[in-house]
Amino acid sequence: MTPVTQMPPLITIIGGSGFVGRHVVRALAKRGYRIRVVARNPNTAHHLQPLGNVGQIVSVRGNLRDRASIDRAVQGADCVVNLVGILHEGGRQTFHAVQAFGARVAAEAAQAVGARFIQISAIGADPDSSSSYGRTKAEGEAAVFETLPDATVFRPSIVFGPEDGFFNRFAAMARLSPALPMIGGGHTMFQPVYVADVAEAIARAVDGKVEGGKIYELGGPSKRSFRDCMDYMLEVIGRKRLFVPIPWSVAEIQGSILGSLPKPLLTRDQVEMLKTDNVVSSEAENEGRTIQSLGIEPQAMEAILPTYLWTYRAAGQFTRPQGM
Ligand SMILES: NC(=O)c1ccc[n+]([C@@H]2O[C@H](COP(=O)([O-])OP(=O)(O)OC[C@H]3O[C@@H](n4cnc5c(N)ncnc54)[C@H](OP(=O)(O)O)[C@@H]3O)[C@@H](O)[C@H]2O)c1
Repeated sequence: MTPVTQMPPLITIIGGSGFVGRHVVRALAKRGYRIRVVARNPNTAHHLQPLGNVGQIVSVRGNLRDRASIDRAVQGADCVVNLVGILHEGGRQTFHAVQAFGARVAAEAAQAVGARFIQISAIGADPDSSSSYGRTKAEGEAAVFETLPDATVFRPSIVFGPEDGFFNRFAAMARLSPALPMIGGGHTMFQPVYVADVAEAIARAVDGKVEGGKIYELGGPSKRSFRDCMDYMLEVIGRKRLFVPIPWSVAEIQGSILGSLPKPLLTRDQVEMLKTDNVVSSEAENEGRTIQSLGIEPQAMEAILPTYLWTYRAAGQFTRPQGM
């Protein structure tokens, strides 16, 4: 009798074409899973295919605002990962449609096919948050647990790594501008976490090694103010810049004006988010719902930032750090 070869489990990753998604795809491909990346435009996910073997990674069309497309995208999946999140609204891409309704759609689709479910939320998710981003992330978490009580939820702090939207954005700004804005004085605390560590946490959950029914808060080894983060970024790129404190009231006006642009640098909602520290809570630390509790020692930004921010160094300082 010919032995029956068992297919590796199929993992559907919604939002897999984004910044964190690429690293999750890489981590899962290395483990040998079959991967289906769901994107509104599947062409944006084709570049992921070389991360796996021939046929291991496929991309399909799907939009969390279109239930039928997600139902199709999860057919046959053993596990579904929802990585979709937005930082600003645009047209029908509202916070509610994507982060609250969308999370429910994804969880219900997973439940219908008997797949396990992993939801990527964010520190700051809070039903009482003054920001729509934070409120709808909390609504999404609640919808997920209501549908699948055993789901796993990850809330990262700010995520760094090559192609991140945080350090790259401010390094690019520092290249062009003599000053950097310090909203609310730059005192908001962050706990930057390396994208590969976040991806590893998600991959361990896919492996079934993370206890479900819980919210894990993912932060790096140190808590740093926005000002400290900018100080270190400037040190890495070898530039000195003026820090201009922007009072909350002024930032709110700037956010309201800039927020109406198609790809806004700052929105009113983001100003609201900055009013609350973005760090792992003491509850999560005391209850062992941290990245360390998953057996991952998170990398410090000092070990990683120089490996990709060196490209922003001034002419004459344009030397690649050794070994990179
Ligand atoms: N990056 C961070 O610092 C950070 C911090 C905390 C939490 N998070 C959370 O981590 C998750 C991943 O973040 P990221 O930085 O990787 O974001 P990202 O790069 O913007 O990726 C988001 C992904 O969602 C997809 N998407 C957007 N709207 C969609 C819709 N309606 N239907 C289906 N897919 C849609 C995007 O693809 P298309 O737009 O091409 O469709 C993209 O693949 C998000 O939930 C985010 O809130 C990120």
